[in-house]
Amino acid sequence: MDFFRDRSILITGASSGIGEAMARQLAPVGSHLILVARSEDKLNALAEECRKQGSRADVFAHDLSHNGSAQKLYDNIAGAGHRVDVLINNAGFGKGGAFVNFPVEAYEQMITLNAASLTSLTRLCLPGMIERGSGGVLNVASVAGFMPIPYFSVYAATKAFVLSFSEALHAELKGTGVHVSCLSPGPTETGFAAAADMEKVVGGPVETAEKVAALGLDALSHNKRTAISGAYNRVQALSSRFVPRKLSMAISERYMKGGDV
Ligand SMILES: NC(=O)c1ccc[n+]([C@@H]2O[C@H](COP(=O)([O-])OP(=O)(O)OC[C@H]3O[C@@H](n4cnc5c(N)ncnc54)[C@H](OP(=O)(O)O)[C@@H]3O)[C@@H](O)[C@H]2O)c1
Repeated sequence: MDFFRDRSILITGASSGIGEAMARQLAPVGSHLILVARSEDKLNALAEECRKQGSRADVFAHDLSHNGSAQKLYDNIAGAGHRVDVLINNAGFGKGGAFVNFPVEAYEQMITLNAASLTSLTRLCLPGMIERGSGGVLNVASVAGFMPIPYFSVYAATKAFVLSFSEALHAELKGTGVHVSCLSPGPTETGFAAAADMEKVVGGPVETAEKVAALGLDALSHNKRTAISGAYNRVQALSSRFVPRKLSMAISERYMKGGDV
């Protein structure tokens, strides 16, 4: 955890699940946590706990699912006199079901939150890190980003974007002193499945948010290009390179419809 000591760390999606677990794990390190999500009460309660653990913590209640919202958040943070040494782009949501079942706005918000705001925040925070020759960006993708997934099509595509973008950026920033890592969780015990209407979808083992958060923080501190949580998910993600696309899509379609795979 030395990498995070005395750093100013911005975590999006810190009000629950993986982001909240990351904040709790970073709190005893004595860093400065900048906590972002829409649920201000939850963030304030978490910030209070983090302060008791020895960290400084500031809350920015912000919706990142609209055009221009990343710039506005960055301006608010910079305007309050904070700099960002480490950026954790974790906020995201999905919707499981037929593509045509959800309105245009749901997809616009999903693409903006999962991909566009993540890109913009990275673009805004990186110059300072490069100038200082230290810091890092941890982007949270998903095992869903390794293959097209019928009935989860837009979410999987946003996560494929996160994965591709993060891996390319990792290569671009070699030698700058700035770390870039991509964390790809599989099914994790958080509010994600309920928000995605996917609680009934069967699958492999479900991991705890604490375990997934720890894996992501460890990956960034060692500047690992990617980290996939859990052996089952690693096999699933890596097999997408060797299994024909048609077959992997048929398997994921069956999975999304709640059948055994
Ligand atoms: N859980 C899984 O099975 C799983 C698997 C693979 C990948 N992931 C990825 O892991 C990341 C974290 O998700 P999680 O599992 O921890 O789920 P979660 O418990 O639902 O947390 C999602 C976080 O994102 C925030 N968020 C949602 N919409 C937002 C918006 N419009 N603006 C700002 N913040 C917003 C939420 O806070 P507010 O509601 O307070 O805004 C919450 O803090 C996501 O990127 C997700 O895609 C999760």
